[in-house]
Amino acid sequence: MKNIAVLTSGGDAPGMNMAIRAVVRSGFHHGFNVYGVYNGFKGLVEDDIKKMTRETVSRILNRGGTILGSARYEAFKQVEVQQRAVENLKRRNIDGLIVIGGDGSFRGARDLHTLGIQCICLPGTIDNDIASTDYTIGFFTALNTAVESIDKLRDTSFSHQRCSVVEVMGRHCGDLALYAGISVGSEFIVTPETGYNKQQTIDAVKTSYQRNKRHTVVVVTEHMVDINDLAKSIQEEVGYETRTTVLGHVQRGGTPSAFDRVLAAEMAEYGVELLSRGIGGRVVGLRGMDYKDYGIDEALTMKKTISRKRYGIVGRLVH
Ligand code: F6P
Repeated sequence: MKNIAVLTSGGDAPGMNMAIRAVVRSGFHHGFNVYGVYNGFKGLVEDDIKKMTRETVSRILNRGGTILGSARYEAFKQVEVQQRAVENLKRRNIDGLIVIGGDGSFRGARDLHTLGIQCICLPGTIDNDIASTDYTIGFFTALNTAVESIDKLRDTSFSHQRCSVVEVMGRHCGDLALYAGISVGSEFIVTPETGYNKQQTIDAVKTSYQRNKRHTVVVVTEHMVDINDLAKSIQEEVGYETRTTVLGHVQRGGTPSAFDRVLAAEMAEYGVELLSRGIGGRVVGLRGMDYKDYGIDEALTMKKTISRKRYGIVGRLVH
């Protein structure tokens, strides 16, 4: 293998740039030419592929987003479309590809691998919803953003003696809400893992109100709750003036935390090392203090384990 490529796909995540930089630098160390694919699998199909240099990846490690651009590209599920991507890679004698993204991106990589391209997947998503790694690139930066924002909401909630209902991202994974909830001392969290019980949520806020707390924070994972409806019910039933905030895409931006930079650099280096040994079709993950790799299908079918202890903490530390 002489030529490899790198792409970022799906929702961008802070730390992706660090991962790209590490793929390029580590690729050079192993004697590879490294190509950058622009706008994810779409760019692969449309032949938007350029050779990377040391200069292309200079001064990017502290930048959010991805210099390569990203896309969600449904058409890549079709084999004819995948074949166009393979042709574009083969024409340049590119045999190895590093895909940085979430589970949807892993599926694209798995299909390409089946068509003869050695693919390595690095988990990059703010959702932390990949079971084959303890943490994904971007999660802790997004968490810090959520925590900083909720801290600010608490300041104003306290001044006005209000309840704040905050919606965070996470898609089908409650980790952002869970970790943010612990970090800010939230009174209640609602996640896909806990499920949503409206009355239970209102009762938790009521307990807080009856204890004369000047502020109460409820953190919920997106797609679970109509937060305006919940806020209205809290206000009517508890008497707490309540405001809602959707943190939204602000959680995806910003300079990556030191942890995400280290994670991105180490995962990328591990991935390139696998390619240098002629190994593909793997997903890199962090397990405890060590990096491991799994078959793509194996990684995709793994179930994320829920830390009951961590969920328990939210309730126990509040009242
Ligand atoms: O997967 C990352 C994520 O930010 C999710 O948390 C969210 O549900 C989704 O992407 C939003 O996607 P889009 O940017 O395409 O609206």
